[in-house]
Amino acid sequence: MQSRYFDVYRAWENNPEEFWRDAADAIDWFKQPEKIFDQSQGVYGRWFVGGETNTCYNCLDRHVAAGRGEQRAFIYDSVMNGAKKSFTYAEVLTEVKAIAAVLRDLGIGKGDRVVIYMPMVPEAVFSMLACARLGAVHSVVFGGFAAQELAARLNDSEAKLIISASCGLEPGRVVAYKPLLEKAIELAMAKPDHCLILQRPELNAAINPERGEFDFTELVDKARGREIECVPVKATDPLYILYTSGTTGQPKGVVRDNGGHMVALQWSMPNIFGMAPGEVFWTASDIGWVVGHSYIVYAPLLNGNTSIIFEGKPVGTPDAGTFWRVAAEYDVKVLFTAPTAFRAIRRDDPEGEFVENYDLLGLRALFLAGERADSETLRWAEEKLKVPVIDHWWQTETGWPIAANTVGLGLMPFKHGSPTRPMPGYAVDVLDDAGKPVPPHTLGNIAIRLPLPPGCLVSFWNADARFRESCLDEFPGYYKTADAGVIDDDGYVFVMARTDDIINCAGHRLSTGSMEEVCAKHPDVAECAVIGVKDRVKGQIPCGFLVLKNHVSRETSEIAAEVAGMVRDEIGPVAAFKTVMVVPKLPKTRSGKILRGTMQKIADDMPWTMPATIEDPATLDVVRETLWKNGFAHEDKTVAAPVK
Ligand code: COA
Ligand code: AMP
Repeated sequence: MQSRYFDVYRAWENNPEEFWRDAADAIDWFKQPEKIFDQSQGVYGRWFVGGETNTCYNCLDRHVAAGRGEQRAFIYDSVMNGAKKSFTYAEVLTEVKAIAAVLRDLGIGKGDRVVIYMPMVPEAVFSMLACARLGAVHSVVFGGFAAQELAARLNDSEAKLIISASCGLEPGRVVAYKPLLEKAIELAMAKPDHCLILQRPELNAAINPERGEFDFTELVDKARGREIECVPVKATDPLYILYTSGTTGQPKGVVRDNGGHMVALQWSMPNIFGMAPGEVFWTASDIGWVVGHSYIVYAPLLNGNTSIIFEGKPVGTPDAGTFWRVAAEYDVKVLFTAPTAFRAIRRDDPEGEFVENYDLLGLRALFLAGERADSETLRWAEEKLKVPVIDHWWQTETGWPIAANTVGLGLMPFKHGSPTRPMPGYAVDVLDDAGKPVPPHTLGNIAIRLPLPPGCLVSFWNADARFRESCLDEFPGYYKTADAGVIDDDGYVFVMARTDDIINCAGHRLSTGSMEEVCAKHPDVAECAVIGVKDRVKGQIPCGFLVLKNHVSRETSEIAAEVAGMVRDEIGPVAAFKTVMVVPKLPKTRSGKILRGTMQKIADDMPWTMPATIEDPATLDVVRETLWKNGFAHEDKTVAAPVK
């Protein structure tokens, strides 16, 4: 039987406003929207204008009122310290009200920004919901980012409060957050008024009330039982800011609104993910990323599901069977993670022996996103789990899948390498560099026709001009995804590569440009280039090339190590910047452009041509030799046979 997708997509194409009006019925509104879409507002128009609602109300209160109070909303499972706990909808509501009371006492109200810099603990998720309850705007910062990155986010968001913890837990080490926090506040121009610190058993942080620091648990314990009602917000008011890598060191603050976000996520749960209320949904990611915002926190709650807050890694904590243990123990119906997690599991357990140890009969589907899903990984997962493995494509900016296969509407035939077809709301075209749609099967820039659907970013925080410039101006009438790819005759989208300097390392989005900015600060570095090179597990890892100043006579390995340390200190360990090489000269065109693309092809053993415009061909030979000495670019033959 043909998937219902085709009828649903056509219904959206024929009447987008009617489609989203119907979808909006699944949300509780304090005041119904006056207009489903108003083109005259915002950068490209706004959804559900005139509507009033509250995201926390839709996630918690309405479910408790409807009798779902005793169902588990969250299960917390930490393989890092063995903690296991579950929370019913009613219990989460109590906790969220208490946190909201604390925030209110600290002067947080509608529109105020709150930075949340926390590990994967329930209090982090409850804090997000408490902000939503008050109409405050949260900005979650991933724990693997360094102080400087946190400072950049404090400056841009001008947050009044930071909620943090004493530590994060990484394999083999306890990551103390307080020193990072103190350094970030010292570096930031915009300083928060207060910090709330959650003390974890593994590390006690010094808390100084005179500096506006308070113990999270102490204040929340005192506030438990207080009634804090949901503050009505406009559908178009911001729910959160999530910073993501842009092409400069300055991160982009993606702004998500309340109304459109809820409507889109709610629609996606039954239709894309095939989830019925009451079932367990597990997104193995982190709330620091968009995947965590959408599918650990908001979408599962909106849909009345139980969501798992998992603290751990897919391998080594304690072994490659962890995911199967969690999935079996909690009867997970749908698992969502990044392909890199599966590559890591497969590396450690190639035969899938751990899978055999668990009863995974309840599992219906695996969803993969965050980076390109390679066929080998897809095949391995299909074979071992014996469920549909669904590659779906989206970005921090879109907040929910642009293209996917639809479990809820019935599956379409699979094509490995393609996240299948665009979801309702997304009209996807492939354009040439002049902005003209290209024929099927032709590689080009993937762009989405405006308006973007509900749930997508409405702008960058306080930076409409930057949003227009970086996403809308190049192809008028379109949002530029900055992904390159093709659409085939069946309308299947194939996402091949980024068109900017973003790389995808272990499912984390990183800007090589911002790493170059840090490398260039080293006093001995004259010039540098950072490219993404293929990695068997992480997909890509950053690889830095340094040219040293003339006078430098120190050991190059020492300088390379210092530069790697600087990137770790300034961007964070998550940058995984460990591969640094020193070369006498960078390959450049005669007009001075560094040939990063060619360097990357050489590193990845891809066919490459000597660019006609190269200034000095010998520079590429040196790069190749240096890469080879460092364990890359082994397949000489591809280099020896340039393509015409
Ligand atoms: N706080 C502090 N440090 C962190 C951190 C956090 N929240 N998350 C990662 N780091 C550190 C790691 O400890 C590591 O440090 P190290 O260099 O001292 O070893 C570094 O950042 C790189 O981490 P990571 O990229 O996670 O690599 P890894 O080798 O530790 O693990 C994987 C590799 C593939 C197992 C892991 O990346 C993974 O589980 N990925 C899934 C990705 C994912 O969920 N993506 C979200 C989109 S769906
Ligand atoms: P992020 O904003 O971190 O979610 O990263 C978004 C980017 O990750 C996209 O622009 C793509 O380059 C890449 N990406 C995400 N999902 C996929 C996918 N299923 N296939 C190919 N690339 C993907």
